[in-house]
Amino acid sequence: MIDRGLQAGLQPTFFLRVGVAIRVGGTSPSLVNELLQNTTSAVVEVTECNAIMSIVYIISAARPDDLPLLPSIELAAAKLLIGHAPESVLGETTSQDDLRRAQRQGLLWVALANNVPVGFAHVDVIEPSSAHLKEIDVHPQHGRRGLGTRLVLNVCAWAAMAGYQTVTLTTFRDVEWNMPFYARLGFREIPADQLSEVLLSILRDETRRGLDPARRVAMERLCLLPVGAMHL
Ligand SMILES: CC(C)(COP(=O)(O)OP(=O)(O)OC[C@H]1O[C@@H](n2cnc3c(N)ncnc32)[C@H](O)[C@@H]1OP(=O)(O)O)[C@@H](O)C(=O)NCCC(=O)NCCS
Repeated sequence: MIDRGLQAGLQPTFFLRVGVAIRVGGTSPSLVNELLQNTTSAVVEVTECNAIMSIVYIISAARPDDLPLLPSIELAAAKLLIGHAPESVLGETTSQDDLRRAQRQGLLWVALANNVPVGFAHVDVIEPSSAHLKEIDVHPQHGRRGLGTRLVLNVCAWAAMAGYQTVTLTTFRDVEWNMPFYARLGFREIPADQLSEVLLSILRDETRRGLDPARRVAMERLCLLPVGAMHL
């Protein structure tokens, strides 16, 4: 099935869903098939702006070799939040130990561009019934092409299959690609009097690190299994 993607400044763009291989703009079926292996969901984007240039985007479980490349994505993406968060916070990166642990536990996904990581989503299981989306970043050079959306939806689909009731996160209220972005994906604000102790402690820790608590919000999305699907 092919959808037409409407991306400002990068038109026309085609999205190719899992299991379909065609030759467009120089992307060979064998390359597509190779890149589709071992993925949980995939999107192939072929730009026609330049017949020579084609980028294959895939969302996949992170591989050990991806891990050293993730901090630079985190730092590049943090630049989008300059003016919203203190420099000290924007300079923080997830440690390789944490990434390795998450990768081994199946709690880390990457967005690959021609097999190279350009984004990632890192989940932490901090409460028995919730999967917490601790970090999500897409390198700005690959931003606004739907990768952030696909990473979030991938996490939500995984959490539903794994039997969690909700996916939670904390984010900025007033940054367009934070709270409004998640709200469009089905997340809702958790009212202050319904915050769990764990989420309260995450918000308190953010305040300690210099984030303005008035601008922070905790959100959750209920995990809904697709019709006919069963828990893992
Ligand atoms: C949040 C983030 C992962 C989204 O990744 P992405 O691949 O760009 O996401 P998508 O392409 O699926 O959608 C991005 C949406 O955010 C909004 N958005 C992104 N950048 C924007 C900007 N500069 N101005 C206005 N809206 C913007 C738009 O609604 C956009 O959708 P659109 O392009 O269809 O209009 C990415 O922006 C990022 O890494 N940001 C920096 C780190 C961060 O904020 N992480 C989340 C903290 S909770």
